[in-house]
Amino acid sequence: MFEDIRREAENEINSAKDMKSLNDLRVKYLGKKGIVSQLMKKIKEIPPQERKEYGKSVNDLKSFVEKLLSERREQLEEEEKRKLYERLWVDITLPGARRKVGHNHPVMKVWREIEEIFVSMGYEVVEGPEIEDTWHNFDALNTPEWHPARDEHDSFYFSDKLLLRTHTSPVQIRTMLAKKPPLAIISPGKVYRRDYDATHLPVFHQCEGLYVDRNVSVTHLKFTLEEFARRIFGEGARVRLKPSFFPFTEPSFEVDVYLEGYGWLEILGAGMVDPEVFKSVGYDPEEWSGFAFGMGMDRIAMIKYGIKDIRELVRNDLRFLRNY
Ligand code: DAH
Repeated sequence: MFEDIRREAENEINSAKDMKSLNDLRVKYLGKKGIVSQLMKKIKEIPPQERKEYGKSVNDLKSFVEKLLSERREQLEEEEKRKLYERLWVDITLPGARRKVGHNHPVMKVWREIEEIFVSMGYEVVEGPEIEDTWHNFDALNTPEWHPARDEHDSFYFSDKLLLRTHTSPVQIRTMLAKKPPLAIISPGKVYRRDYDATHLPVFHQCEGLYVDRNVSVTHLKFTLEEFARRIFGEGARVRLKPSFFPFTEPSFEVDVYLEGYGWLEILGAGMVDPEVFKSVGYDPEEWSGFAFGMGMDRIAMIKYGIKDIRELVRNDLRFLRNY
């Protein structure tokens, strides 16, 4: 009889599907009214001389069932854990969600490159305000009232005396007022004019340069610009100066670079600082001399990267920008 119960218990417990059915089986065998308890109660009906033997068999059965239950419970727990881990499993070899990394805008690249080139030649990078007064933007730069650059139609005025700077040249004035010569600075930044077509934007970027020392001559200017051209456009770049006019330089030049496949391209204006400019900042023009230049960085970016329409630079079209 015990043998049958054992076999039955073994079968049932080992094939219990989950904790719930296992618990039901515990009640069935070991509960208050369970099989083991029933057998215990029957001990009264057993002849006294066999009771000891009988009691031992029931107790053995009880521990047998307990052992079966706890073994099966462990198995079921293991299985549950395995299923959980299967559900939570992550394939760490899968490639992650990739974020596209951007890069500098072509004008910003040229900006940084210009800074690097001039810093390596000992120049300091300085900034000036984009909202300027007419004195710094024009008067101190020897640009009189009648000059067309001062015309309302060419500039953005806030009032009679305040405007968005039309060039970076006022930073020359601010620098000379703040420092004693000798000095060498560049000043890259945004400038504003009322222009808009394939070669002009109302907001564009210039980089001013100013070198002041004793006995500065046009040869210093030319060498500096040649060195700059070679560094930014490559070794083959040549430079030529053409006579020109700017109110704040005398003599003044338009500066062209020669690039293989392009010919001569105008990239900047330059000249020897006009004595009137030195006077307006309190430098003695008998003692001090210098050169200045101003370049359009958008234009340099266009030449360097072969961009035809300047307006592409501000369209923010990624299909365009990704090429640079
Ligand atoms: N400020 C001039 C412009 O916007 C550019 C320029 C020309 C700057 C000659 C200079 C210079 O410093 O010497 O057209």
